Amino acid sequence: MADRKTIWIPRRLSDATLARARRDYEVILAEEDRPATHEEIVAMSARADGMIPCHSERFSAEVAARLDPRLKIVANHSVGVDHCDLPALRARGIVVTNTPDVLSDATAELAMMLMLGAARRAVEGDRLVRSGAWDFWSPAFMVGKQLTGSRLGIVGMGRVGRAFARKARGFDMEIHYFNRSRLGPEEEQGAIFHADLDSLLAVSDFLSLHCPATPETFRLMNAERIALMPKGAILVNTARGSLVDEAALRAAIESGRLAGAGLDVFETEPGGNPAFAAHEAIFMSPHVGSATVRTRDAMGFRALDNLDAFFAGRAPRDAL
Ligand code: DGY
Repeated sequence: MADRKTIWIPRRLSDATLARARRDYEVILAEEDRPATHEEIVAMSARADGMIPCHSERFSAEVAARLDPRLKIVANHSVGVDHCDLPALRARGIVVTNTPDVLSDATAELAMMLMLGAARRAVEGDRLVRSGAWDFWSPAFMVGKQLTGSRLGIVGMGRVGRAFARKARGFDMEIHYFNRSRLGPEEEQGAIFHADLDSLLAVSDFLSLHCPATPETFRLMNAERIALMPKGAILVNTARGSLVDEAALRAAIESGRLAGAGLDVFETEPGGNPAFAAHEAIFMSPHVGSATVRTRDAMGFRALDNLDAFFAGRAPRDAL
C-alpha cells in the first residue's frame, strides 16, 4: 500500500510487538540486537518515518541536529527518556513518546526482589549453598534485616513509586515518601509525605529510588545524603544509575554505614560496576526491571499505539 509508513526497530522487541508492527507498517529491523550507534540512528532517519528505540539508543543534541526531516516520531520503548535530548528533538519538530504505566508493576516487583535480597543476604546465602561451602548453622548465622514494621522511604511517588508502595504495604512496612508535590489521600493511602529529601532520608530504614534521571537528580544519593540515613539502612535503585554516586555507595557498604544495596541500574551500562562484585551485601541485576513477557508486550503495544495515533493525525497519548 502506498501510504504504509516505514518504521525502524533497532532492538529485538517481543514477538507479539514485531508481528503487530509488521502487520501495520513497513518494518526495518536491525540485523543485530545491540545498541544502535549515532551514525546508524542518523542514517536510518532518512529511511524511516518513525522509530521505536529503547533507552540504549542515545538521541543527543548532536544526533538530533543531524536527523533527516523524514523522521517524524521517536516512539520510545521505555518510560525513561534520559537518553533523548527532548528540547533538541522538539526543535527539529520530532514528536517523542514513552511507555508509562505498563511497566510499573514489573519494575516494582523487581525492586521488591532487590530489597528482600539485600535485606536477607541473598547473594551470600546462594553462594554458600551453591558452592557446597555451607558447613555451619547457628542462631547467629546469616542474620539479616526484617522488612515487617520497618520504615520504607520512597523517592519519587509517580506510577512506579506508588506500585512499589502498594507491594510494600503487603509486607506491613511503614511508607514514607518524598515527591515534588504531595499526593491526594486516595493515592497516598496513609503514606507519610516529607517536603524535603533530607527529612525522608533520616527515617528510611530502606530507601527506594523511583524518580527520573535529570540534571537535578544526578548523584542525588551522594556521601552526604547517604550519611543522613539510619546506620544499617538498605538502598534500592531500579530507576537510573546516575541517581547514585557509586564510589560513595561502595564506601558506605565498606564502612557498614549501609547494610546493603539492591541495584538494577548502574552508571555504566551494560557492564555495571566491577568494584561492587567484591561485596556480597550488594544484590544486583542487569537492568531488567521491566523484563517480563507481559510487560515487554505491553511496552511494545504502547509504543505502537503512540505511532498509530500519530500517523492517524491524532495526538499520541504519551507525547512528551
Ligand atoms: C525504562 O522503561 O525506562 C526501563 O528502564 C527500560 O528501558
